Amino acid sequence: MASFPKRCPESGRPGIAAALLGWFDRRRRDVPWRGERDPYAILVAEVMAQQTRLETAIPFHRRFMERFPDVQALAAADEDEVLKVWEGLGYYARARNLRRAARLAVAEYGGRLPDTAPELRRLPGVGPYTAGAVASLAFGRREPAVDGNARRVLSRLNDLEAPTPSSLDGAARTLLQDARDRPGAVNQALMDLGSGVCTPRRPRCEECPLSPRCLARRRGTIAQRPPRRSRAHPPERVEAAAVVHRDGRILVLRRPAEGLLGGLWDFPSIPLPPSATPRTTLSEGLREKFGLVCRVGDEIRSVRHAFSHFRLRLVVHRASWVDGEIPPELRHRWIRPTELADLAFPVYQRRFIDRDLIT
Ligand code: ADE
Repeated sequence: MASFPKRCPESGRPGIAAALLGWFDRRRRDVPWRGERDPYAILVAEVMAQQTRLETAIPFHRRFMERFPDVQALAAADEDEVLKVWEGLGYYARARNLRRAARLAVAEYGGRLPDTAPELRRLPGVGPYTAGAVASLAFGRREPAVDGNARRVLSRLNDLEAPTPSSLDGAARTLLQDARDRPGAVNQALMDLGSGVCTPRRPRCEECPLSPRCLARRRGTIAQRPPRRSRAHPPERVEAAAVVHRDGRILVLRRPAEGLLGGLWDFPSIPLPPSATPRTTLSEGLREKFGLVCRVGDEIRSVRHAFSHFRLRLVVHRASWVDGEIPPELRHRWIRPTELADLAFPVYQRRFIDRDLIT
């Protein structure tokens, strides 16, 4: 029998991996890149699926693979093009890192992706999860890939009161010892099981291939496993943005490469204090922060967006340029309204761009 850490006895029982594989072959989710052997396609899929639901990532993956079919194509692409295809998927650092990873693969690995988890981790943006997923799915290596869903399954199976990355890694590695030549399928089975059966609330234990072995089920602790990460109600930020018109063109700014929504295009915006009016705040802010004298007009729309750590409400106004020039260190362009379609903007801005600005 496989050796296993004392804290994870159930992961090491004979038959667990076989039960998982049997279930996966009958019930797995239908995802286009399943069955894919191209490591690059798998890397793209796993990076996309990390902070995004699998179903949401599918059309983005298809478009991305059409546009950048291999490592060379991605390495040769402009960052702007990559961000445009990624537009709407969020967490744009993932897209920039993926392009940098492709460039490193071309520079150091002859245009192929490395085939071990430690080497994969040298690529920008590739952490333990992604390295394990690519190593196991594409290269058949016995490397764990523990996402939030697999974490829940392993915590319940072994009744882990306080699962740590190392205890989960141990539990998954133990299971993989029995995975025969299908470690990628075992990893994906854990994730699918957590997504559709071993759900946070009201798990469907009667459908679970592991329930006869599930320690938390036997002990009645399922509802407490794993402990919930407490999430405070995220604070709200309110900002005012201006769509500044000048001679038939509109001002757009490039966000700094690092940081939130890095590299995307944007409109000039100013934090809106609780008692301030957007018009006055914008008029003063455009002058002080952007060197522009503008006549601020009507509100176009107010949009909201939930980021992981705060909620944003953005009040958008029309404005017309009167005088002044933007400081040269702020990257910007004055573009025709039709060009708004070609640049990558944060998704919550797309809502008013497409409805109100592109006519
Ligand atoms: N979540 C992210 N990647 C996944 C995969 N390959 N299978 C199941 N769930 C996933």
